[in-house]
Amino acid sequence: MEVEQNAQEQEVDTLPELKTTIPNFENYDRIFIGTPTWNMALPQSVVSFLNGYNFKGKTVIPFNTNGGYGPGSTFRQINAGTQGAKVLDGYTVKGGEETNGIILAIKGENKAKVSKEIDVWLEKIKQLKR
Ligand SMILES: Cc1cc2nc3c(=O)[nH]c(=O)nc-3n(C[C@H](O)[C@H](O)[C@H](O)COP(=O)(O)O)c2cc1C
Repeated sequence: MEVEQNAQEQEVDTLPELKTTIPNFENYDRIFIGTPTWNMALPQSVVSFLNGYNFKGKTVIPFNTNGGYGPGSTFRQINAGTQGAKVLDGYTVKGGEETNGIILAIKGENKAKVSKEIDVWLEKIKQLKR
């Protein structure tokens, strides 16, 4: 299972090989990187993704979901793993708690609240299209 695999990989600090690649990565200027917090860090697969591409000259926009303990080191790892990129302020929100069987938690009233927060965030980092 992916989750168990990640725990083992974090422990021994190995990186999984990704099953997909992004064609023409060089053509993208702005890259949103969305990630959950796993063990207060990036999932190892996201570290593999950062290592696999050249982010020089790009604008990176990170966002995070977590089970209530915050982004941990995810934003710091994204900063460190995208050398030469301009990394904008990230957005973090409490999502589900997969490990406790709570999934798809951003819905109903919470969805409307989070949607507003995202508009405020995008406005602040000047990424909201009018
Ligand atoms: C293996 C694993 C480790 C996790 N570790 C943490 C953690 O250290 N801190 C935390 O706040 N949430 C942790 N979570 C909760 C996830 O961050 C949460 O389930 C995810 O952000 C929900 O995203 P979603 O609402 O987009 O599905 C962990 C979840 C998994 C599956």
